[in-house]
Amino acid sequence: MTQSNPNLRNTLLDRLLAVVGPAGIVADADQKSAYESDWLKKWHGRSSIVVRPATTQQTAEVMKLCHENRTPVVTQGGNTGMSGGATPDASGDQVVLSMTRMNAIRQVDPLNNTMTVEAGALLATIQQAAEDVNRYFPLSLGSEGSCTIGGNLATNAGGIAVLRYGNTRELALGLEVVLPDGRIWNGLRGLRKDNTGYDLRDMFIGSEGTLGVITAAVLKLFPRPKARACAWVGTHDIRALVHLLELMQANCADRLVAFEMMSAESLQLVLDHVTDTRSPLEGRHAYHALIEVADTRETGLSDMLQDALQDAMDTNLIDDAVLGASLAQRQAFWKIREGISQAQPRAGKAIKHDIALPISALPDFVGAAEHAVRGVQASAHIVNFGHVGDGNLHFNILMPSDTSAEAMADATQRFNRVVHDLVVEANGSISAEHGVGQLRRDELRHYKSPVELNLMLLVKQSLDPNHIMNPGKLI
Ligand code: FAD
Ligand code: MLT
Ligand code: ZN
Repeated sequence: MTQSNPNLRNTLLDRLLAVVGPAGIVADADQKSAYESDWLKKWHGRSSIVVRPATTQQTAEVMKLCHENRTPVVTQGGNTGMSGGATPDASGDQVVLSMTRMNAIRQVDPLNNTMTVEAGALLATIQQAAEDVNRYFPLSLGSEGSCTIGGNLATNAGGIAVLRYGNTRELALGLEVVLPDGRIWNGLRGLRKDNTGYDLRDMFIGSEGTLGVITAAVLKLFPRPKARACAWVGTHDIRALVHLLELMQANCADRLVAFEMMSAESLQLVLDHVTDTRSPLEGRHAYHALIEVADTRETGLSDMLQDALQDAMDTNLIDDAVLGASLAQRQAFWKIREGISQAQPRAGKAIKHDIALPISALPDFVGAAEHAVRGVQASAHIVNFGHVGDGNLHFNILMPSDTSAEAMADATQRFNRVVHDLVVEANGSISAEHGVGQLRRDELRHYKSPVELNLMLLVKQSLDPNHIMNPGKLI
């Protein structure tokens, strides 16, 4: 049953209104539009109703109603996702379930190094709440002022500190989830050890709103780093950069917290499209890295970084380097790195490849992928950057802004095939941190083995038999 029938829609609206009250319903077409497309304005849809529950109980009642009516539900957090996962389809039948009113920090337990938060809490708010008790929550993304922890968990977001602290999955100890039929699973346990059977938590993390609604989580906290040192380096090729990572790890061990890469083209894109940015180094370098080390005490942090860079210079791994001597300089380096996300849509339409590879395979992959992409289109504008410390590349191809939808679809198909074939050949992943959403759903089906696809479908079927959770996404 769908909701195209206005009478049915009104009945559901009335019943949802009774659950969440007027403050929890967005029915006005103008106000709904913010929930109906993504931040890149790449995906557009229509929703029947946007519902904004304020509690887990309300979320459960909303889901129960949608389950009974077989109404599809698209859960949405900060709507900063890169893969169209939070955008409803064009039918106008789907309910958008916005979690942003459920944004409380429920409990902070510094002794247990945990914090219990609601799904709609902004990542930046959580980072601040950790800092307020002299602890550190390390997840860090360019979108941290707008994305929610529920969205981070649902996409298993990565970001710039995975090298040291892991993905969002590694940062969550327990979850509270509303199931598609409205039952509540309370798995809010702050335990480092719990071997009581199948790990349900890990099933919901990365499930992109297709299995249930994450309403709260217990997060891990860490000692707060009080000293940081960073450097910007330029080098001649990606192989040297990967060996530089090896050298940094050998010298700095777990004090190395970020190792981010940008090709010369990616840097140029930021310099051209983001105000108040300038290249930290003179001259052209094929690749740049932004390296950061951190510790709870200064104790030789800068010297350690400087010595490692001197080694790298002596062994010809890098051509030039500059230390971020002040907070302002450090912020300027990060502004460049994080500016790539803003610069791309200003410069054109990106065909995004969010890929993961064994770090050792990166140099050969980049050579082969560049060659293959140029085979499809000799003049292709490749924007290659990413989290080299975790083997995650954003190997994007930037098309002119006026490229038509048909030409984009055709180019995407052709570039995807050559890039993703090489990824799979190298035993990599076609979706590293942004999620599958609607962007990579067909690619997932193309590359996953029948056994893996079948297992995923069995999980989906058993948890969401009416297929109401984010249909058309991921699987
Ligand atoms: P949304 O976009 O609202 O939703 C994303 C997906 O999660 C959808 O499928 C949605 O249905 C589902 N979902 C949301 N909330 C819930 C919930 N409570 N329960 C169940 N399902 C839910 N991502 C990275 O991984 N690394 C980066 O470095 C990075 N950098 C970024 C930089 C910028 C400038 C921007 C705009 C985005 C960046 N992203 C990055 C992508 C994005 O911020 C992340 O994917 C983030 O985790 C999405 O959170 P959100 O709250 O905005 O989720
Ligand atoms: C980043 O690492 O900056 C984002 O994940 C990638 C992007 O904006 O495409
Ligand atoms: Zn990224």
